[in-house]
Amino acid sequence: MVSCKNNNIILMGFMGVGKGSLARELSKRTGRIAIDTDDLIESVENTKIKKIFENEGEEYFRQKETQLSLWLETSVKNSIISIGGGFYHVNNLQDIGHVIYLESSFDAILDRIQSSKNPSKKLKKRPLLQDMAKAKALIAQRHPKYVSCSDSVIQTAGKSSATMAEEIMQLLEL
Ligand code: S3P
Repeated sequence: MVSCKNNNIILMGFMGVGKGSLARELSKRTGRIAIDTDDLIESVENTKIKKIFENEGEEYFRQKETQLSLWLETSVKNSIISIGGGFYHVNNLQDIGHVIYLESSFDAILDRIQSSKNPSKKLKKRPLLQDMAKAKALIAQRHPKYVSCSDSVIQTAGKSSATMAEEIMQLLEL
């Protein structure tokens, strides 16, 4: 693999872009363990993200992400890490692994969610995807930040997880 800190691959991008599916596809092909920052926070807190936002507020959730980022840097190696759409705010992202930005338009993300098995569940569990006008503004505001904290960018439009996994494996010489 192209050398990088801890040999981890980090999948970053907006909510609903398909980070989790791609992480599972990459895990299948490489034999590496795939972990997800939202899943880890839910497990540690024993609560769903939606409830954490409701009961403790977004700031508390962001603190949990920061705490997790320190653990990922020191303790996780040779893994595939899908991160929540706002996780890029942590200070040490590039010290955790090779950061791949999965770029997509907002409309393509909505199409992907609508054509999934359970669109309403996918929307309901994401507090920042309740107001579509706000979410559209958020993706526009985040796009330059995603670009600036990534090592590589993959265009997701019209691609399956399998195609993107191939692309990443070629890119990183896996
Ligand atoms: C968030 C994205 C979510 C989750 C939380 C906040 C964000 O993860 O971390 O709801 O700020 O973009 P996904 O990107 O996996 O939906």
